[in-house]
Amino acid sequence: MASSIVLFGPPGAGKGTQAGNIVKMTGKPQVSTGDMLRAAVTAGTALGIEAKGYMESGQLVPDAVIIGLIKERLTESDAINGVLFDGFPRTIAQAEALSEIAEVSIVIAIEVPDNRIVERICGRYTCGACGAVYHDLFNPSNDPNVCDECGHIGMKRRADDNEDTVRNRLEAYHAQTSPLADWYRERGIFSAVNGDQDIVKVGEEIAAIL
Ligand code: AP5
Ligand code: MG
Ligand code: ZN
Repeated sequence: MASSIVLFGPPGAGKGTQAGNIVKMTGKPQVSTGDMLRAAVTAGTALGIEAKGYMESGQLVPDAVIIGLIKERLTESDAINGVLFDGFPRTIAQAEALSEIAEVSIVIAIEVPDNRIVERICGRYTCGACGAVYHDLFNPSNDPNVCDECGHIGMKRRADDNEDTVRNRLEAYHAQTSPLADWYRERGIFSAVNGDQDIVKVGEEIAAIL
């Protein structure tokens, strides 16, 4: 399999927001473990039933579950030229497992200070059809119920997008995920962009790395 890209960063950093452009630029499909888990919760599968409690409390879903999910996803035909990972890996164990099944050529970290995260998460809404990401104040759609990207009527808000859960997600990020930055830095494939600026500017910094 050709090389993959990892989008790395705290909750609300803008991984999902920036993923669309990266997909357009590279042709690699977005593989978001968060989106896959939410789809499983909605469908009520065994995976969804197992993951739901962790997600609603803002804890990480166990590594074995996530690694199994990714292994299966990478067998699909569209993954043949590498993928864009969004929100994976999130622990050293996940990164080690990934290194055995796929080559990662670039890790792009979107850096945003903690004090910006709550306001971002609490104003987020997404299109119920294509998943486009919006924000009440920072990135509103032209009509609050209609997606600018695909015209679908009906937006969704996430069950874990509330202030209490966000604090737990941030804690999990700092304790379990942020050590991965050094792990990838040591491997010479880590680049960081300033995520605390206009969405378009963040996209330009990412494009310059790619
Ligand atoms: P996941 O869905 O991955 O959530 P997350 O990492 O918490 O990240 P978010 O999706 O909340 O943020 P984002 O960076 O995509 O930001 P966005 O672009 O939407 O995971 C959810 C849960 O699933 C986890 O808590 C865990 O339980 C489980 N899970 C998932 N993967 C796992 C794994 N690998 N291992 C274990 N467990 C796993 O932007 C946020 C908002 O900000 C939007 O409203 C957007 O419009 C706005 N915004 C974006 N950029 C800007 C900007 N530059 N300026 C102003 N506003 C902006
Ligand atoms: Mg996301
Ligand atoms: Zn849409």
